[in-house]
Amino acid sequence: MNAAWKNRALINLSALRNNVNVVQRLAPKSRLVAVVKANAYGHDMEIVVRELSSWVDGFAVASIEEGISLREIDCERPLMILSGLCNPSQFTLCADNRLDPVIHSFHQVDWINAYTGPPINAWLKFNSGMNRLGMTPEEFMKAYRMLGKSRHIENVRLMSHFAMAEEPDNDFTKNQISEFERIALDLEAEKSLANSAAIMCWPDSHFDWVRPGLMLYGISPLGTGATDYGLRPVMELQAKVISLQYLKQGDTIGYGRTYTATRSMRIANLGIGYGDGYFRVVSGSAYARIHNQNAPIVGRISMDSMTVDVSHIRQIREGDMAVLWGESPSVDQVAKWAGTNAYEVLCRLSARVQREIGCE
Ligand SMILES: Cc1ncc(COP(=O)(O)O)c(C=O)c1O
Repeated sequence: MNAAWKNRALINLSALRNNVNVVQRLAPKSRLVAVVKANAYGHDMEIVVRELSSWVDGFAVASIEEGISLREIDCERPLMILSGLCNPSQFTLCADNRLDPVIHSFHQVDWINAYTGPPINAWLKFNSGMNRLGMTPEEFMKAYRMLGKSRHIENVRLMSHFAMAEEPDNDFTKNQISEFERIALDLEAEKSLANSAAIMCWPDSHFDWVRPGLMLYGISPLGTGATDYGLRPVMELQAKVISLQYLKQGDTIGYGRTYTATRSMRIANLGIGYGDGYFRVVSGSAYARIHNQNAPIVGRISMDSMTVDVSHIRQIREGDMAVLWGESPSVDQVAKWAGTNAYEVLCRLSARVQREIGCE
């Protein structure tokens, strides 16, 4: 492959460190578990973890498999496994790889009774209203007592997760905090509740450990206001102009001929499409940025390419790079065009796009 023709997602390490500082400023008394599941929200787990290892107190991933890959990156920090364990034999994998699983269902407590390996650390999860994972108050207290007595558990920490912390001053979230406090406050164990939105909006929820994900990557879970909080986008997605076409009025573009030139136009073909994780549905509403100018996407987005109107960009050349998201348009803007959220935009970016360190 000719590397010079690759699309790329440039990862800005200085922005990443800046965003960790923002978290530390907002939650100065808490330790920080960086959530790096799903390939660090599409940013490349290895790049992100290598950079953050000396800045944060631990990492969180979804599964044991992700945890093992993270250990292979030579990361020595505590690793939290958010989705917990799928079968009893995974306790041994946790011990071997020093992974700290979330115990969210009572049947997993029973598995511990059958486990005979070396002791592990665990997070015990309370269901404070999300109703996805987590135990009822009765199960939680019983599990806490059992894990406390188990020879196979070294340290138990307590956690829960928010359903809608991105809405400030919301009664549901207030209730989640008070439910968690009611069950956990008097227990002699470290506690964790806050995701990015709660770090930003709910200081009462910070406790001993905060668990930021999205905000580390420079995006506000509130949908707006990232710069007000001092967050800087970590990823810039760039695609190469692989050809220029000149159209006459009445010519059509691409599959289905959905766009007809209303005048003479110059069109740039970018070598990126839905096969790379970009959104086919945004044709006609979105733009890329080339030479700091908007280049509206026209015609259907296909698997490997898309066409943008560059009639007004005089200096355009084949080989130029276009920005699909970064400072502008932002990931949030792309999410709005696509009718989704920033999390999905980032996680969909496929392995075809090379992740590279753009700025140290
Ligand atoms: C249990 C848990 N904690 C923390 C996070 C981080 O959330 P955010 O990316 O909104 O900060 C997640 C993400 O899904 C999660 O599942």
